[in-house]
Amino acid sequence: MVSTAKFARNILCIGAGYVGGPTMAMIAARCPQYKVTVVDINAARIAAWNSDALPIYEPGLLGVVKEARGRNLFFSTDIEAAIKDAEIIFVSVNTPTKTFGAGAGKAADLQYWEKTARMIKRVSTEPKIIVEKSTLPVRTAAAMSRILNANGNNIHFEVLSNPEFLAEGTAVEDMKNPDRVLIGAPDTPSGIKARDIMVEVYANWIPRDRILTSNVWSAELSKLVANAFLAQRISSINSISVLCEKTEADVAEVARSIGMDSRIGSRFLASSVGFGGSCFQKDILNLVYIAESYGLHEVASYWESVVLMNNYQKRRFVANMIAAMFNTVADKRIAVFGFAFKADTGDTRESPAIAVVRQLLDERARVVITDPEALDNAKTDLADCLDQVEMVSDPYMAAQGAHAIAICTEWQQYKVLDYKKIFDSMEKPACIFDGRNILDHEKLFAIGFNVFSIGKPARKHY
Ligand code: NAD
Ligand code: UGA
Repeated sequence: MVSTAKFARNILCIGAGYVGGPTMAMIAARCPQYKVTVVDINAARIAAWNSDALPIYEPGLLGVVKEARGRNLFFSTDIEAAIKDAEIIFVSVNTPTKTFGAGAGKAADLQYWEKTARMIKRVSTEPKIIVEKSTLPVRTAAAMSRILNANGNNIHFEVLSNPEFLAEGTAVEDMKNPDRVLIGAPDTPSGIKARDIMVEVYANWIPRDRILTSNVWSAELSKLVANAFLAQRISSINSISVLCEKTEADVAEVARSIGMDSRIGSRFLASSVGFGGSCFQKDILNLVYIAESYGLHEVASYWESVVLMNNYQKRRFVANMIAAMFNTVADKRIAVFGFAFKADTGDTRESPAIAVVRQLLDERARVVITDPEALDNAKTDLADCLDQVEMVSDPYMAAQGAHAIAICTEWQQYKVLDYKKIFDSMEKPACIFDGRNILDHEKLFAIGFNVFSIGKPARKHY
């Protein structure tokens, strides 16, 4: 272990995933005066963070890691030693949707968080600031504080909330220049002291007016609410996309028109096959569960409808494919372009492509999947039906002999493929279902494709 003596602060993060790894790399790169250690129970993940083949794909991240790794950024599996040494401990472990017991399918599964808290309590010999980086139900800090400060060793732990707002694929830019950083702290002398230390850490590169402070409960709840509002926009525009398809309106034109109203704003209105990712669905359902547990049933069903609309959007994408392909896709080869939940990441958690592929397999289609970064994760997601799908990294090979292409991820490279060459290699009539509205539909139609997009009139040769 590297000596801590020469560093101004000793920071630890427990959990080296999509959030822990990048956020700590950024703190270390921007604050060479701090020692930053990231630990995880997953030794393979830590080994990857110590190599040039990082465990996650994120544009620009390797440069940030390399700037600090070995200097003041360390990745380790020695969790206990790192806890003993640290003054500030970020906890960034996973908080997935519970799959068992009370609240199954909605509530957050807090077992990893709680195990971490108990370990911190067991091995600590000095007071520490514990920072919730994971997304947690509102009032989790109270439970954690109770566990950490329960009688035993008389060491004080100050629990703060510092939720992370980065989006995958743009994590480095989001962290360099965040819209805001939020620090929730108790309004007590020790809480205020801890809050000020956290403000000082972020003020190394973030303008002071973008570092917000609040009480702990507002910070915890703000994270769930931010995701719920963002996802709500997508479900709202997606609900309009189906109306556009019925009425010959064009959802992109509608989005542009409403987005120019500055009260609405133009971002996050891209209609799609549906939102995916590890957080939107999980966090909205978590919010729904919290509302239900307070007896707020109208509030719960209001937010749940955002998720239900998303499920509908994924289902109707495939239903449209089947209808367009003469009501059967059985034994037809269908190329799925993109398996990641969005571009510029290999992450496939809750990717709409999973639902699309499974529905196509139920209809006995022959599915071939292509993606530049996500095929390894796709193999895990589809482990139970791998014998029924083909995976190839080359989109031209994927399309060869296919009746249809379904665009599920908005990868830049899919916009610039040679679609004439692709068309020539496909069965006819050849269809493209653009689940991300990223292609030049006029041009594709002129080549000979039948083109189906989200929320726009179909272009058919038959
Ligand atoms: P992740 O699954 O990629 O990473 C979590 C890591 O924690 C894993 O590597 C796991 O091995 C490790 N871990 C679990 N229990 C541990 C323990 N007891 N000791 C040490 N390590 C342990 O998850 P993630 O995507 O990084 O998300 C983490 C949290 O951040 C979640 O609450 C999520 O909602 C939130 N969040 C995620 C994003 C995102 O873009 N992925 C953005 C903002 C917030
Ligand atoms: C989202 C939030 O944007 C982050 O602020 C938040 O920190 C994070 O969740 C989290 O808590 O994990 P992320 O899921 O990584 O980030 O990616 P987004 O860019 O939000 O995209 C989510 C999904 O919505 C993707 O499937 C994307 O393709 C889809 N989307 C996004 C649309 O369909 N239309 C849009 O206009 C925007």
